[in-house]
Amino acid sequence: MPAPQIDGIDLAPLAPGRLLPPRAFTSPAVFEAEDAAIWNRGWVHVADVIDVPGPGDYVAATVGRSPVVILRDRDSGQLRGFLNACRHRGAQLVEGRGRCEKQLQCPYHGWSYGHDGRLIGVPFRDQIEADLSTMGLIPVRVGTVGPLIFACLDPLAPPLEAWSGELASHFAAAGVESWPLAWELTYDVDANWKLFVENANDGYHIPVVHDVLLDLLQPGTGVTTLEPHSAYTYANINPAYVPPGEDPALARIRFGCVFPNLIPVLSPVDLTYLRVDPVAPDKLRLIVRSYDEPARGAPLRELRRQAFERTTDQDIAVVRKVQRGLRAAGLPAGVHARELEARIGHFEQMWVTAMARSLAAEASATAAAAERPGQAALAVVRPFDSAMNRSP
Ligand code: FES
Ligand SMILES: [Fe+2]
Repeated sequence: MPAPQIDGIDLAPLAPGRLLPPRAFTSPAVFEAEDAAIWNRGWVHVADVIDVPGPGDYVAATVGRSPVVILRDRDSGQLRGFLNACRHRGAQLVEGRGRCEKQLQCPYHGWSYGHDGRLIGVPFRDQIEADLSTMGLIPVRVGTVGPLIFACLDPLAPPLEAWSGELASHFAAAGVESWPLAWELTYDVDANWKLFVENANDGYHIPVVHDVLLDLLQPGTGVTTLEPHSAYTYANINPAYVPPGEDPALARIRFGCVFPNLIPVLSPVDLTYLRVDPVAPDKLRLIVRSYDEPARGAPLRELRRQAFERTTDQDIAVVRKVQRGLRAAGLPAGVHARELEARIGHFEQMWVTAMARSLAAEASATAAAAERPGQAALAVVRPFDSAMNRSP
């Protein structure tokens, strides 16, 4: 059976060293298809535990482009997730962060929902012809890895523990959960979200693009692990940067990605993550937060932030150049370095696998519908009801 295609892109497994064609990063059709294939199918980082510290606290977020709300249940203290969309006419219920003591109330017509998502209040209830007991908020799966909250729209996706691989145990070993937030940054970048994820997994550009902390890592010490939904490298810190009295063998940095869009960077003294949210085929929003270990990380906080801002500005400049270059008519697919860009190859393979699976499922659903003519065309047509036009 031939591999599925999207906008002329063959979704067969990539040959070693080969990359996706430029259209994968420019095509509006690909960007639309990623909703069903990528964002609606796996675990996506949405917020942090510090965003919802107490009972009733909520934070609005997105999974891909779907609005969701993460809420800490007032009674159980559990995290809950729902689509951030009212069941009446779809209005977004909340924005930003806040606390709701009893209920989430829609700002449009005032429908209200309990912390468990049940619909509990409907103005002019006698005018709504629907079984309101079935019209609670749509739940989404929620889980945490250390200080990070993930959500998943697909009930059939693997558990978060499987999706995030060894991330939780590495966070626990470092003691990340007790580290305070040090700083946060947001960027809007004119590039496809995948290009920025790839840049963050690219060890090839560093001597060309960056001019700070070039010698932070000890050459030749990187060990890369590819997991089903992530890829990470551990490399030793240059002994010159290891404080006296600390074991250089334990001074390592872990970097990589959790598919699709989270880039956690863990050192003995800080956890900094980059999350790359899709906005348009050629636009992304970059969310960055850094936590640091109080005794050893906090004194370096300002230095780390300055270094991060400088290197990120340099990264944004080259990623934007790639986005513009990929528009060149007739440009064939590129290649990646075997080791220095190994995680890019794995990222693109994870993308191809997810896209192919989604398109194959869509094709078989369409074929099954075609074998049952008539059913797809079923529609309930009701005679005009003059009561519907009455004013309340
Ligand atoms: S859209 Fe929410 S109450 Fe109408
Ligand atoms: Fe970089």
